[in-house]
Amino acid sequence: MTHPVLRLENIVKTFPGVRALDGVSFSVLPGEVHALMGENGAGKSTLMKVLGGIYQPDSGNILMGEDKAVMSGPLDAKSKGIVFIHQELSLAEELSVAENIYLGELPRKSLGRVDWAKLSEQTNAILEKLNVGFDAKTRVGDLSIANQQMVEIARALTVNAKAVIFDEPTASLTDAEKVVLFDVISDLKNEGVGIIYISHRMEEIFKITDRITVLRDGQYQGTVNTAETDEEAVTQLMIGRKLDLTRNASHHELGDVALEVRGLSCGKLYQDVSFELRRGEVLGFYGLVGAGRTEIAETLFGLRDPSAGQILLDGEEVRIHSPADAIAKGISLVPEDRKGQGLVLEMNCRDNMTLPQVDDLKAGPFVAEGAEVAIFDQYRDQLDIRTPGWKQKAGNLSGGNQQKIVIGKWLSMHPNVLIVDEPTRGIDVGSKSEIHKLLRKLAAQGYAVIVISSEMPEVLHVSDRIIAMYSGRIMRTFTSDEVNEDNLIQAISGLGSNEAA
Ligand SMILES: Nc1ncnc2c1ncn2[C@@H]1O[C@H](COP(=O)(O)OP(=O)(O)OP(=O)(O)O)[C@@H](O)[C@H]1O
Ligand SMILES: [Mg+2]
Repeated sequence: MTHPVLRLENIVKTFPGVRALDGVSFSVLPGEVHALMGENGAGKSTLMKVLGGIYQPDSGNILMGEDKAVMSGPLDAKSKGIVFIHQELSLAEELSVAENIYLGELPRKSLGRVDWAKLSEQTNAILEKLNVGFDAKTRVGDLSIANQQMVEIARALTVNAKAVIFDEPTASLTDAEKVVLFDVISDLKNEGVGIIYISHRMEEIFKITDRITVLRDGQYQGTVNTAETDEEAVTQLMIGRKLDLTRNASHHELGDVALEVRGLSCGKLYQDVSFELRRGEVLGFYGLVGAGRTEIAETLFGLRDPSAGQILLDGEEVRIHSPADAIAKGISLVPEDRKGQGLVLEMNCRDNMTLPQVDDLKAGPFVAEGAEVAIFDQYRDQLDIRTPGWKQKAGNLSGGNQQKIVIGKWLSMHPNVLIVDEPTRGIDVGSKSEIHKLLRKLAAQGYAVIVISSEMPEVLHVSDRIIAMYSGRIMRTFTSDEVNEDNLIQAISGLGSNEAA
């Protein structure tokens, strides 16, 4: 019988007001990919932070081989062979790729000076293995999120690892980058490393993992062999009930055109984009990463100037100069990158949610606390945000609950046009379907909604019409009656001619 690389036994961890882990046990075998699953806030990241020495458990043991191990801090855990690829990126943006990868362990010459040539050489050797399009000297802050993730992975590969933890590694990766990641995982597996893989994406879980352990509300629910279970069974373990997957295509009447875009272009990013969006309608934008969808949203939100074309709101041409201007005109954007653009992690949940409207809530020189709390309570209930209270720092919430705070923030502005970019990235299956229902409900209430998504089931599920984009152009606009997986894939792959041509 093979012995586990490591074992966590009866781990308990509490935070003020939250029992994040309630006696959880978990083990990883050498050469196994072990998925850790559970709803947002179930305790997955916390368990891994205990293993990685970031948190000390209140009680319970960590065993490596036969021996008890104490992880006194992240560096200690790393020296014991535990490598952690975090859900939140933890890189120094001002430093180069090479400096980030070898931080604290830079190669030195005899006089103690950094050996820059050697540093570049070592780094580029790893980057080559990962097949990325940047080099050792690139400043990390200039990289896309996906590429920053690849830097974290590169850093992990420099350590002689016994176990590698991937906490939602694919959330911002393109399909091509995922292939590279899965190759890396398969190499590690062949070397006998134990891999812990956290993800909300069932498809990948069933593709790459050997076993699945499920947590719910900080409690261990069970471990199953991936080959002997299915999505439905795992979902039921996770949420304790069956999931209602009926499409919520409430066929309410569509209202007037709220937004019209005519021949909009933005340099090389996208060209000649035209569409209409009615009140009561959910318009999906589907395409590969780089197709220009996010850039269109950014233009509508005043973050980019178009190089040509017109934007009309309620039939009148407008120019949108800044996000403040967009908000004043009734356009809200829930951004793709909630960490960079959506949330202030140090601020509490309530203040994050009411941030854009603090000025309106002022009673004399003071902000009306009661009004702010009321707004928070309303959206906490509507979106089922799990937190012990509004005073909690946003940074302490689980990833999915952070996303819900951002959505709540923009909903509380009562926009006419609500744009959501990858609304359920990192969100568990149960909350995902809640958010889909919510988007349909908002449309039924008369909001005009744009949903940008890279997940085909998501766009198919929520949209009344779908715009398929390829390389900066609209290839085709589908109604929900005519769209299917095949013609949608064809349109976003650039096969066939575009609409305008
Ligand atoms: N530093 C902290 N302070 C207070 N509460 C915390 C802290 N870290 C986590 N929590 C709470 O512990 C619980 C478990 O959070 P955790 O981040 O482990 O969830 P998760 O399973 O990783 O969820 P997700 O899928 O959303 O990433 C949540 O209720 C969270 O709000
Ligand atoms: Mg997490």
